[in-house]
Amino acid sequence: MDGLEAVRARYLDAIAAAADEDAIEAVRVAALGRKGEISLKMRELGAMDPEARKAAGPALNALKDEIDAALRARRAALADAALEARLAAEWLDVTLPGRPRPQGSIHPVSQVTEELVAIFADLGFAVAEGPQVESDWFNFDALNIPPEHPARQEHDTFFMARAAGDDRPPHVLRTHTSPVQIRAMLAQGAPLRVIAPGRVYRMDMDQTHTPMFHQVEGLAIDRDISMAHLKWVLEEACRAFFEVDRVDLRFRASHFPFTEPSAEVDIRCSWAGGQLRIGEGDGWLEILGSGMVHPKVLAAGGIDPEAWQGFAFGLGIDRIAMLKYGIPDLRAFFESDLRWLRHYGFAALDVPGLAGGLSR
Ligand code: DAH
Repeated sequence: MDGLEAVRARYLDAIAAAADEDAIEAVRVAALGRKGEISLKMRELGAMDPEARKAAGPALNALKDEIDAALRARRAALADAALEARLAAEWLDVTLPGRPRPQGSIHPVSQVTEELVAIFADLGFAVAEGPQVESDWFNFDALNIPPEHPARQEHDTFFMARAAGDDRPPHVLRTHTSPVQIRAMLAQGAPLRVIAPGRVYRMDMDQTHTPMFHQVEGLAIDRDISMAHLKWVLEEACRAFFEVDRVDLRFRASHFPFTEPSAEVDIRCSWAGGQLRIGEGDGWLEILGSGMVHPKVLAAGGIDPEAWQGFAFGLGIDRIAMLKYGIPDLRAFFESDLRWLRHYGFAALDVPGLAGGLSR
């Protein structure tokens, strides 16, 4: 049967040249489809005489099988190539080291807050809280700072906006933790022993001031409370906090509207060799404000000043964190620099406690 060799060559070439699945399918349809060239030739066999059919039939069948096999082989080769390409593109070296997430740690402010909470819990003080957006009554009036009082100007207060036409005095971002004294008195009455650590805000920004910083407030109310109790509590707390056997505190007469009498407290220290040592030397470092709670403040908190007295104190957490851990610049506290935190931060699992040690 002439021409069969040419047909074979044509299809095998076409199959070899087919670059994708669609091209292979087109060749298959052209050769072996219902109306394909080979299929039509097979059909012609029926019209042949038996002799001719005997000669042509096997040759045609063999060609059909050969083309079919070539189509399958080409299809498999294309699939293999596609898989190879995909494997090459998606290659992943599972032996590379993992990319670790940045490791955080406990911020010195959190650490010192926990240390103070542990120290004062040991002395019988519970933790009290108040809002950071505070009414001017709690932040000022109830603390014996009336509207015309100069202390209001000195606090560099952030005021919240009021809706147009709303004439009520604006809320403020609390300028100190002292308003929590009033909230604790109103909520719990006397006797009372609380500390209130938290964020406070003032419009101030330089090397030693940031617009947000941290204070802890202390308040103890009972019958027959005196400055002597205040002094003992502060000495015990400072000894525990600075982890030294001996501290020396100096009470300097001062003035705060919410205490009478008032005292600023300095701690003895030395700066020998550029290193701060608490409890020794001839230097004094101011660390807190304190005093006996003013009768008007007790009254604002719903407590009878004839029957109860109390002492209060307030100190800057950031500042004593800098002192204890030798941190030079306050602003770095709030820059979220992981390298800084790695240097000054604390391990998450070392929870400060008086038994196990405050800082390790
Ligand atoms: N509230 C004061 C301040 O922010 C600190 C302070 C002083 C708090 C004396 C007190 C206190 O409770 O008795 O500067």
